[in-house]
Amino acid sequence: MVSRRRLLQAALLTALLPASLVQAVARAQSRNTFQVPPLYTGRKEGKDRYFDLQVQSGSAEIIPGYQTPTLGINQPFLGVTLRANRGERLYFTVENRLPKETTLHWHGMKLPARADGGPHQPIAPGAVWNSEFTIQQPAATLWYHSHQLHQTGVQVYHGLAGLFLIDDEESQRLNLPSTYGIDDFPVIIQDRDFNRDGTLQYLTTMRDRMMGKRGGTILVNGVVSPLLKVEKPLIRLRLLNGANARIYRLEFDDHRPFKVIGSDGGLLEQSRDARSVILAPGERAEILVDLSAGGVPILRHRPHNQRSPQREMSMMQRMMGEQDQFDIFQIDATGVESKPVALPTYLVKSSVDRSLPVQAERTMNLQMMMNPARFLMRDQFAINGKSMKMSRIDEVVNAGAVEIWKINNHTMMPHPFHIHNVQFQIIKRDGQREPHEFGFKDTVLVHPKESVILRIQFPKHRDPHTPYMYHCHILEHEDQGMMGQFVVV
Ligand code: C2O
Ligand code: CU
Ligand code: CU
Repeated sequence: MVSRRRLLQAALLTALLPASLVQAVARAQSRNTFQVPPLYTGRKEGKDRYFDLQVQSGSAEIIPGYQTPTLGINQPFLGVTLRANRGERLYFTVENRLPKETTLHWHGMKLPARADGGPHQPIAPGAVWNSEFTIQQPAATLWYHSHQLHQTGVQVYHGLAGLFLIDDEESQRLNLPSTYGIDDFPVIIQDRDFNRDGTLQYLTTMRDRMMGKRGGTILVNGVVSPLLKVEKPLIRLRLLNGANARIYRLEFDDHRPFKVIGSDGGLLEQSRDARSVILAPGERAEILVDLSAGGVPILRHRPHNQRSPQREMSMMQRMMGEQDQFDIFQIDATGVESKPVALPTYLVKSSVDRSLPVQAERTMNLQMMMNPARFLMRDQFAINGKSMKMSRIDEVVNAGAVEIWKINNHTMMPHPFHIHNVQFQIIKRDGQREPHEFGFKDTVLVHPKESVILRIQFPKHRDPHTPYMYHCHILEHEDQGMMGQFVVV
């Protein structure tokens, strides 16, 4: 017979489970140390570099006392940081140790379509995929992640994402903080929800499907609200919005200024002073933070209160969870040497050839179909009236061509538009430009009803048979069809 006390305990336990999970999250928030993902530079032989990657499943103690099943690359949760130099030829073997198909896509890299790792290069369970390309672009913070058709959201959510750093001589001459994990820190920001048993909770509501999955717990490099103890008075943060759907507006709680030095495609021509930076999923920014005065600043996410004066819009934003605020992580600079730091202004020379003629202009209309008949279907998101089809090539581009793309957002919510194989310039937008938007980009946030005009010079990799993707980087929108294909001929 079960004792009364036992029953009482069991009842108490069930009643307390969600609360205890909340407490566990709160405990994690007060004591975690900042984790720097391990660096993996492969095996170098002259100008060649070899990487062996394994996509695997594992588990991680994200919330104290709970083992969360996760996915990772060369480790249980998230990917190791890859690093290589401009001019090197890279050779990858990617082994899929999962029981399901996956891909690995090198986001931001200029490369042949076959090597891209998009939905056309799936890796079957147990199979190995080979990718090779030469790095022909400047130093930058790129990243890599699963791009499995219709499954990108769930696979990235569980951990199939990591950083990919490119170095070059020009950036090394600048004397920027560049010692990984000492004064140069990767900051992968993601938000997640958890079930009572500690497993990751994905897509439970219609709102998640429409707006994209946003979680209530922020992770930095896989850790809940960590504390970063620094010793150097000047640090560089390589910020990546690795979230599925949430747009972050990042600032320090003491409103301290910082310098924005890089964007998706690498360093800016000149650093720019800022107190906040907006990053949509897929976007990166590199910033320098002066800590010579010490302190314990908190980097936080604090959205603007109501971008639009119209009442429906602010209601829409509330509905979308755009009013939520979060602490991202805290820096402990109480131990830094208090010597003044030199903040560089001029960084890199422009590599734009303005004399090249524009060969084509294209328009991309981002659409959400509100037709209730297709409400529960995959293809409720579209570009130019079409949802993603593997068998349909949407655009044909000439190798080396300069093109103007106009991205129109016809919906009530913002969409980060991403193009594979290129680093473009934003030449015009209706709204205000963010400091990092003066550099080269592969992803651009397009606000509701906004138009953004891009100048793109396409690299010279020709392949009429293998398409590249362009898509919204809200992964649930991508998975539900807001994606198209182009080939370079
Ligand atoms: Cu970051 Cu097509 O992806
Ligand atoms: Cu990409
Ligand atoms: Cu979208």
